Amino acid sequence: MSIDTIHDLFEHGLEDIYHAEHRLLEVLSDLEENTEREEIASAFAEHREKTEGQIDRLEEVFEMFGEPPEKEECEAVEGLIEEYEEFTSMDPNQEVMDYHNMAAAEKTEHYEIAAYGNLIPLADQLGMDEAADLLEENLREEQDALEELKELTEGFEIDAIPAE
Ligand SMILES: [Fe+2]
Repeated sequence: MSIDTIHDLFEHGLEDIYHAEHRLLEVLSDLEENTEREEIASAFAEHREKTEGQIDRLEEVFEMFGEPPEKEECEAVEGLIEEYEEFTSMDPNQEVMDYHNMAAAEKTEHYEIAAYGNLIPLADQLGMDEAADLLEENLREEQDALEELKELTEGFEIDAIPAE
């Protein structure tokens, strides 16, 4: 498939983030399970619920676009997941694991924020105002999630991790 138009570009981006959100739904469960600190684990649980809503919104966007919801493998998020799994396979202690889980989640938020930020002007350009609004809602949730993760990172008692 060649990608030559705004229509194609939008479709490609939508399928990419649709795939990414599904993968993150799975990974957020792992993050929650692998995190001991209640506050952090519940942030993952909460974001997992939000992610379900984001997927529903994306399906609405596909409908407005007149295409069935399809996934295009998001290599970037797959790469982040692979990196995360490699790290956990090195058997870090719980403190390190909790800290790293936040860091891994933050990385995905940056990707998602960029993805939605890039899709919104395309939807606008295609005259899909309602779709743009839905994407904007997803973007706002990702931004909120990133802020929350940043606060948790700042509040993390880093000296619980041995320096050397
Ligand atoms: Fe998301």
